[in-house]
Amino acid sequence: MLTNFAAVLALAASAVALRPNGLISTNGAKSVVDLYLDAPLPPSIAPPNLPITDGYFNQTVDHFGNQQGVNGSWFNQYYLISDAYYKPGGPIFLFIAGESVADASFISGGLGSLVSTLLPRYNGLAVSLEHRFYGASSDVLGRSVPTVDLNPATSLKLLTAEQSIEDMANFIRQFPTVFPQYNVTDNKWISIGGSYPGSLSAWLIEKHPELIHGAHAASAPVLLELDFWRYSYDVDAGMTFQSNLYFENGDSCMQGWTRAVKAFDTKIASVINDSAAFTDFRSKFWFASVPNVGDFASGVTGDFAGGVQYYPQDATAGNYTVLEVVCGGEFFPAFTDPTASDELLLETLQNYTVYYLETNGILGPDDPVIAEYFNTVPNTDWSIANAASYLWSYQACTQFGYGQVAQPLSNGLIESWSVYSQYNDVSYYEYFCETVGLIKDLNDGTITDFDFGGLAITTPNILWVNGQYDPWHWLSNYNTTQSPEQQSFVYLNASHCNDLWGPLPMHNITSLTEGSWPPVTQEFEDSFFEKIIAQYDAWINGSSATTTTATTSASTGTTVSGTAASTIGGSATSTGSVNTAATSGSSTASSNSAAPYTAPAQVTGNLYSAAAPLAAVSAVLGAMIFFV
Ligand SMILES: *[C@@H]1O[C@H](CO)[C@@H](O)[C@H](O)[C@H]1NC(C)=O
Ligand SMILES: *[C@@H]1O[C@H](CO)[C@@H](O)[C@H](O)[C@H]1NC(C)=O
Ligand SMILES: *[C@@H]1O[C@H](CO)[C@@H](O)[C@H](O)[C@H]1NC(C)=O
Ligand SMILES: *[C@@H]1O[C@H](CO)[C@@H](O)[C@H](O)[C@H]1NC(C)=O
Ligand SMILES: *[C@@H]1O[C@H](CO)[C@@H](O)[C@H](O)[C@H]1NC(C)=O
Ligand SMILES: *[C@@H]1O[C@H](CO)[C@@H](O)[C@H](O)[C@H]1NC(C)=O
Ligand SMILES: *[C@@H]1O[C@H](CO)[C@@H](O)[C@H](O)[C@H]1NC(C)=O
Ligand SMILES: *[C@@H]1O[C@H](CO)[C@@H](O)[C@H](O)[C@H]1NC(C)=O
Ligand SMILES: *[C@@H]1O[C@H](CO)[C@@H](O)[C@H](O)[C@H]1NC(C)=O
Ligand SMILES: *[C@@H]1O[C@H](CO)[C@@H](O)[C@H](O)[C@H]1NC(C)=O
Repeated sequence: MLTNFAAVLALAASAVALRPNGLISTNGAKSVVDLYLDAPLPPSIAPPNLPITDGYFNQTVDHFGNQQGVNGSWFNQYYLISDAYYKPGGPIFLFIAGESVADASFISGGLGSLVSTLLPRYNGLAVSLEHRFYGASSDVLGRSVPTVDLNPATSLKLLTAEQSIEDMANFIRQFPTVFPQYNVTDNKWISIGGSYPGSLSAWLIEKHPELIHGAHAASAPVLLELDFWRYSYDVDAGMTFQSNLYFENGDSCMQGWTRAVKAFDTKIASVINDSAAFTDFRSKFWFASVPNVGDFASGVTGDFAGGVQYYPQDATAGNYTVLEVVCGGEFFPAFTDPTASDELLLETLQNYTVYYLETNGILGPDDPVIAEYFNTVPNTDWSIANAASYLWSYQACTQFGYGQVAQPLSNGLIESWSVYSQYNDVSYYEYFCETVGLIKDLNDGTITDFDFGGLAITTPNILWVNGQYDPWHWLSNYNTTQSPEQQSFVYLNASHCNDLWGPLPMHNITSLTEGSWPPVTQEFEDSFFEKIIAQYDAWINGSSATTTTATTSASTGTTVSGTAASTIGGSATSTGSVNTAATSGSSTASSNSAAPYTAPAQVTGNLYSAAAPLAAVSAVLGAMIFFV
């Protein structure tokens, strides 16, 4: 799949990749999903295809004013309910849909969703409320869209995180009346979300602790940052991890890639003032019809990172993963050859780009699809049917920033240069937001005022979970909490939202073609989900707000005999024994004293300074974070 400015929009891509279903197989071999779908289902996990009830909830258009929608002050908001395991009094899991259509597969059982573990364990009810506007991409025209169109100047004023939070609060308050069949009285509501919905989960309990008993915030970027170049750190760390894991070639691939990007940027600088020479250079990449240097650079360097945010099989070039093609050594050996010259690397980048375009269905250098996908142009059609990816771009451009851009070289090098071209800096992100027509001027003060505290959300009963190689973890409470009544776990070797897939068998397989993600030992997998479930136990069984008491110990080598929790999803833990030496994290809540920006171990060993992020954040705070 081709994406225009993949870097800017990567969080939105979670709509597609949040759950690893419908995977492309790599090199004809089985993917992670084929494997786990074939695997025997542990008895503790709800079987697939649970019945789902759906319908429309009568929602308020504007919770803060009196803006009217297509039907006046109310609109139909789509919801899904999974009640097969429910017993009156049981907890209600609000699975937050976020920037994609509400997806029944998260709450309808089967491997690949944490909810499948929660429902049978607690006799819970699972519900999912479609985020306002995002039903626009469903097959029902205008579903959950309160307005007649998606005009940013008028209609999309109603597309804010605050409105979404009040949608959920209103839904929860009305729930006992609207759904009397569930006999809901003082049932505990637990919110669950990953990525932007992870942030919504944290913000929902922050704003409405009277409604939400516990909030699972997976990969939740609650710190809003416009110039989010730190994303690149984990593209580097994650790609190096994957490349070394599958091809045992250390960091040679990221060295080669960043040297190629440097050669690319250097060449651009030398031809950019000479129109004919610049066009000639672009044509070598099949980009003659993409005159804007940022669009060109994004097309060439933007998609490479795709496989880091989720899992390697998520970024493909034809029948292969981008990881295999760039880092495997077979297709384009120069990328992993430390002795390759800059000229050879640049030619390799050209050939790789052409290969990538060809294997994604582009017919040749003059295929009009190239101009259509890669040129940033003013959008003229704000009809609901043309929603495309603009809804998420609108939220990012107006409220969150989240520009996944190249780091300024003054902040140090990532390997030999930057992961993304230097022509994809924050000014290109602004160009994108403004040219499309989502916002007039990113810096003119029209940006919605928004501040829920950044990282400093002290509300109790939040569970922060982040993947070790998730590029978004910089904007979340990674391995740190903001109050003793929160928990923060790191899913080692994992990336974005992988904890929401729930426990999966076969993680021990570490060959790319056999597929498995995250590549962790079964022991770690079991102890990790044991900690997650222990937190849910504490919320649901406990009488008051509490953190889990440690079932594992920080000291290495301790063997803890199995609790009830140790059997969850764990076909391999039937012995009921967990060796905590395999986990590097303590299960006790971290204290507030840890600096929130401390670079994780895999980053500090690199060429750039670990102190750089702090400086960058201060700079961003000054200009770009939007206070109420
Ligand atoms: C939704 O609620 C409003 C206000 O109470 C009411 O006027 C409207 O008819 C309701 N819509 C539906 C479909 O019930
Ligand atoms: C508007 O009202 C019509 C008629 O009741 C209904 O079919 C439609 O779903 C409503 N649209 C929204 C967005 O509420
Ligand atoms: C509804 O739930 C309450 C509290 O859990 C219980 O006392 C009552 O008997 C239930 N009513 C029905 C009809 O199930
Ligand atoms: C291209 O033009 C810019 C701005 O006029 C100038 O700063 C730069 O040095 C020029 N580059 C070359 C290679 O001439
Ligand atoms: C990809 O795999 C399919 C099925 O094996 C095959 O038919 C197709 O030719 C392959 N495409 C390429 C570009 O290798
Ligand atoms: C690039 O592709 C051209 C045309 O197929 C080929 O002649 C050349 O050897 C390739 N170079 C590299 C470095 O892959
Ligand atoms: C992975 O674990 C499964 C289940 O414990 C086991 O059957 C399989 O042999 C293991 N595979 C490898 C490569 O260790
Ligand atoms: C992470 O991956 C590395 C490399 O395969 C492996 O050695 C390590 O055991 C894994 N960590 C966990 C916690 O499973
Ligand atoms: C919490 O409740 C669940 C469901 O009743 C039970 O399986 C589990 O053992 C309980 N956990 C604790 C720590 O009490
Ligand atoms: C998390 O923090 C603990 C305590 O500071 C530390 O020992 C551990 O190594 C950290 N884990 C990760 C993955 O950074």
